[in-house]
Amino acid sequence: MKRMAAIVRVVELRKSFGPLEVLRGITFDVREGSVLTIIGASGSGKSTLLRCLNYLEQPTSGEVYLDGKPIGFRIEADGRRAPDTAANISRMRAELGMVFQQFNLWPHMTVLENVIEAPIRVKRLARKEAVDLGRRFLSKVNLLDKENEYPARLSGGQQQRVAIARALAMQPKVMLFDEATSALDPELTGEVLEVMRALAKEGTTMLVVTHEMGFAREVSDRAIFLHNGQIEEDGPPARVFSAPTSERCRQFLSKVLH
Ligand SMILES: Nc1ncnc2c1ncn2[C@@H]1O[C@H](COP(=O)(O)OP(=O)(O)O)[C@@H](O)[C@H]1O
Ligand SMILES: [Mg+2]
Repeated sequence: MKRMAAIVRVVELRKSFGPLEVLRGITFDVREGSVLTIIGASGSGKSTLLRCLNYLEQPTSGEVYLDGKPIGFRIEADGRRAPDTAANISRMRAELGMVFQQFNLWPHMTVLENVIEAPIRVKRLARKEAVDLGRRFLSKVNLLDKENEYPARLSGGQQQRVAIARALAMQPKVMLFDEATSALDPELTGEVLEVMRALAKEGTTMLVVTHEMGFAREVSDRAIFLHNGQIEEDGPPARVFSAPTSERCRQFLSKVLH
């Protein structure tokens, strides 16, 4: 069910690192249940954008709202803007599940322990409840049979599927994928994309940075192309991928679509 409400709202977001202005005024909304793909050349700020959304990077200016609530700041009774508390920021961050290129699993924990760690530590679930939840999401990524394995004994594709289950186990409102298949051998990307495709089909709200253009085109409701810190192209994937209006987007696609 695709609903119209904007679950993520980004308003005039800017981010600089010293003199380097990486994001120069990014504004977009993501509807609940929709998939937004973010494309752009290496260094164009895709990761910085996702990291600003969950406040792993603090935006230089601009606003991010999740389900109507500002991330990183709050509005005081007198209307002034004040930095939010660390506790509120981590609570908000838990609402945004993130999957990275590097899976970042804990090597000393089993697959199941990796998945239930945050629900127990952050959400304070009882262990039994967390285990039930963890198994539910491991089964969703087809890895229930590996729950007692250690990450080092899994393939890259399996490790990434564990990382997805781990993010899902927090039951976030939105999933962020930052080049989730870029570190995988080509024969292993398919199994990860398949899991992502199933999530999209179920109505998971997803922001996806990817170079898998076929996948992006098939799964996303909208695609944006970042260039020079701004949204240079924005539209339905069928148009963005086949008939971009921006010459820079056209050039970028001709390089990656070979
Ligand atoms: N923590 C940081 N400190 C300084 N520069 C950074 C930092 N993170 C990213 N950058 C720079 O910001 C630019 C955008 O990086 P990034 O968001 O990783 O791009 P992309 O994900 O599109 O490849 C790059 O020039 C990168 O070197
Ligand atoms: Mg990146």
